[in-house]
Amino acid sequence: NDAAALAPALIHWQRQHGRHHLPWQQTRDPYRVWLSEIMLQQTQVSTVLGYYQRFLDRFPDVAALAAAPLDDVLTLWAGLGYYSRARNLHRCAQAVMRDFGGAFPPTAALLETLPGIGRSTAAAVAAFCYGERVSIMDGNVRRVLSRALGFGEDLSSPRNERLLWTEADAMLPTAGEDMTAYTQGLMDLGATVCTPRSPACLLCPWETLCVAHREGRETDYPVKTRK
Ligand code: ADE
Repeated sequence: NDAAALAPALIHWQRQHGRHHLPWQQTRDPYRVWLSEIMLQQTQVSTVLGYYQRFLDRFPDVAALAAAPLDDVLTLWAGLGYYSRARNLHRCAQAVMRDFGGAFPPTAALLETLPGIGRSTAAAVAAFCYGERVSIMDGNVRRVLSRALGFGEDLSSPRNERLLWTEADAMLPTAGEDMTAYTQGLMDLGATVCTPRSPACLLCPWETLCVAHREGRETDYPVKTRK
């Protein structure tokens, strides 16, 4: 069926047309991937690029970050905004040292117990670093998946968001397939092709599979009544 064709098509597209040179894509170190995901939560890629390496130069590993005074962390964060992220970053590093012997835990479920790591960030780190079959869900992914699946429920309701997340789980590549390319592919498709106002469906690996495209109603998704 169509749903089973989505993941392989996305993986193939990501390899050919996705982004491969972002600094946090050059590693499977969960510390580096986690840092990038926290920075990228509310900040654009182009802005994060100016902060990421500087932060790693000062705090090369989780032990260095945990041992630093909070003020030093906040100083390096200055300009990225949303300072609760930096406070949680510091608390998370200390929890990794105290509760996990300095090694980031090896599953999304355990990562999600750490300060500042929600379900989607835990999934991104686990997919990129460990190849775990778990689904990310951010604004771009909500748009991409609701269009592809023709998911017509109102995503301002947490219950419907959970439903979409369950649909996302059902679409994951099968064991042994490339979770890194798949997860990065969802992000890249949302950032470069399946954009909010005028998606470039001609360039989309899901052009013939996408329910919204078939209906000619791409911009009617995601459905949101509030916000
Ligand atoms: N936004 C969140 N995670 C990202 C990633 N790995 N690459 C690009 N943008 C992102």
